[in-house]
Parts: sequence; structure tokens; C-alpha cells
Amino acid sequence: MNRKYRKTLIAGNWKMNKTPSETKDFMVNFKAIMPKGRWCDIALCVPAVDIPAAVRAMRETRVGIGAENCNANPSGAYTGEIAANMLVDAGCKYVILGHSERRAMGETDKEVNAKVLAAIEAGLIPIVCCGESLEQRESGVTDEWITMQIKLALQGVPEEKIRRLVIAYEPIWAIGTGRTATPEQAEAVCEHIRTVVRKLYGSKNARATTILYGGSMNDKNAYELLAQPDIDGGLIGGASLVPEKFVKIIEAANQPTA
Ligand code: 13P
Repeated sequence: MNRKYRKTLIAGNWKMNKTPSETKDFMVNFKAIMPKGRWCDIALCVPAVDIPAAVRAMRETRVGIGAENCNANPSGAYTGEIAANMLVDAGCKYVILGHSERRAMGETDKEVNAKVLAAIEAGLIPIVCCGESLEQRESGVTDEWITMQIKLALQGVPEEKIRRLVIAYEPIWAIGTGRTATPEQAEAVCEHIRTVVRKLYGSKNARATTILYGGSMNDKNAYELLAQPDIDGGLIGGASLVPEKFVKIIEAANQPTA
């Protein structure tokens, strides 16, 4: 982390977990133990049906609620889809885009890019995900793959909007597997992402961009991962479902930085 130049963000990704009633219960428990005082930005990205309950519960707090996807179109005949402006009106601040689980369902780089542009246009902060498979890592093409994913996702994002965007590095082999990237592995790719942003948007913008690590981050390994200079926070799946664990990760993000 480097709080001097950029925001620290701890974001939960609930994926397809918790009903609206369970969301309400989580928020009661979470609010009761939420760290006070100096803390990082906090986001909880939840299933669409849980958004109203989450927004209501977190209204008086600094926790921003987010969605896990949006459609690139502003409105129209897209049965079952949700537009970015609908999420804004429902009280969302963030939206996760290009998660590997959605890419595995067929989402393309082009679609991710269209969603990023739509989210920015609507005033949401996109959390844009990238990450390599185990096969790609073992073949030594991680950096090239990440470069391509970032370049394609950010196409057409104007310079004045790049700071309204968060990038999350999530190696696919570390998601939900309990096999976390080592702090060195995670730092190397996050540093590489910053280099890509630097080439596209210049060094001041690159220095101000928040880059998260995601993939089996938990209350035990968060401190060491967040101590890395280019890891500005976490995108947390499993551990964000348990208030006590999520709070411990937030506390790890409050560690002193250089
Ligand atoms: P886990 O923390 O459960 O590995 O999930 C990471 C993730 O995919 C967050 O988006």
C-alpha cells in the first residue's frame, strides 16, 4: 500500500451467496464490530437482490455497496439484465467487472470494456478484474496476458476518468482454492499492472491508481499481502462472508505504510 498517493480499498465479493434476510443479519453483526477511526475505504459487492438491504443497512456508514456485474446498455430489451444507472439509483457506488467467473461463463474482453465505459458514464467505480490461469503462469505468459486484459478493458477510458477506476489482480488458480499467491508473486503482477497503466496514462495517474489483490485473501495472510508497495487493498470472496474475518482484513489494511 501507499496511502500517500492512492486510496486503500478492502472490497468483499459475495458472489452468489446470502439471501436478503441473511444480508440483513450480516450487516447487523458487521456494524457491531466494524473498526472505528482511521480506516481504509470499504466496499461490499453483493448479489443484485441483496443491494436494497445492504444499502439500507450501511446508509450512515462509510461502507460503499457494489454490484457484481452490469449490462453495457443504458436500457432496452435485455431480459434479466441490470443497467449501470439502475445500480446507481439503487444506491451502489461500485461494480465488479470482468471477474474470471463471469469470463468463464463467456464474457469477452470486448464486453468487459463496454461495461467499464457504461459504468464510468453512470458514475460507478468499476473494479476491473484480470488474472491468469495456472497454465498461463506455468508457461511464463502472465505479464503478456495481464497487459492484454488491461489494455482491452480500458480501451476508450479517458485520462480524466482513470482515477475513478480500481483494478483487481486475481490469479484464477488462487480463487477459492486456499492457494494464495505469495506476497512476492502478487506484488510482481500488481507492479506490472501499474507499469501498464503508466504506459497508457502517464506516471501520475499510475501512481494514483488503486490496485487490489484477490484470491484466497484472508484474516491470516492479509497483513503480509497488504504490506507490499503496489497492493493497495483486497478483493475478498470467502472471507468477506464472515464479519469477524472481514473486519480482521480491514484491520490489516490499517497497518502503517512507508
Ligand atoms: P476467494 O477470496 O474466495 O478466493 O475469492 C476471490 C475472488 O474471486 C474475489 O473476487
